[in-house]
Amino acid sequence: MQEALFQIRPARDDDRFALAAAFAAVAEERDGIATEPPVDVQARAASWAIDGTLVAVAGAELIGSLVVLPSRHGYGEIAMAVAREWRGRGVGSALLAAAIEWARGRGLHKLSLGVFAHNTAAIELYRKFGFVEEGRLIKQYRRANGELWDAVEMGLLL
Ligand SMILES: CC(C)(COP(=O)(O)OP(=O)(O)OC[C@H]1O[C@@H](n2cnc3c(N)ncnc32)[C@H](O)[C@@H]1OP(=O)(O)O)[C@@H](O)C(=O)NCCC(=O)NCCS
Repeated sequence: MQEALFQIRPARDDDRFALAAAFAAVAEERDGIATEPPVDVQARAASWAIDGTLVAVAGAELIGSLVVLPSRHGYGEIAMAVAREWRGRGVGSALLAAAIEWARGRGLHKLSLGVFAHNTAAIELYRKFGFVEEGRLIKQYRRANGELWDAVEMGLLL
């Protein structure tokens, strides 16, 4: 039997640096996530919310992560990223499926997120799992290059 290419598991304390380094690499793309360089990797690593983070690993390599930040009001905010060379191979789907289970297990009633309006890959992924568009924030994000980007709010009732 062929071994799975990657696995999803809860993050551990010793994932902190890899999580922050992977986040910094995605920020360098200046496209999918709101944060742009420079990223203070040490500070990110130290402050990373390990409880609520799921990681995708291929062998010893961290290839993706998803964070659920539960609010006091019963919903959780999510953020995720997959390493560029691993995209389009089901890693994001596996992370999101695991996060939905995790959130249900924690008793959350809803998952929410914001995504740049041009981020078709992410929006399609969220739609595939039943997220619906709840609103659009016009010219909300000022980018380092001066552009003003719209964001779409999406939500999934659990
Ligand atoms: C968004 C992201 C997490 C998706 O992860 P992924 O591992 O590539 O996703 P998957 O391979 O599981 O694809 C899931 C679905 O997304 C959609 N999708 C993925 N890539 C796509 C693309 N380039 N164009 C259109 N739809 C796409 C498809 O619906 C796909 O489902 P299918 O395989 O059944 O057709 C990844 O592209 C990423 O990390 N991007 C940069 C960071 C980012 O944008 N994060 C989200 C911020 S809100």
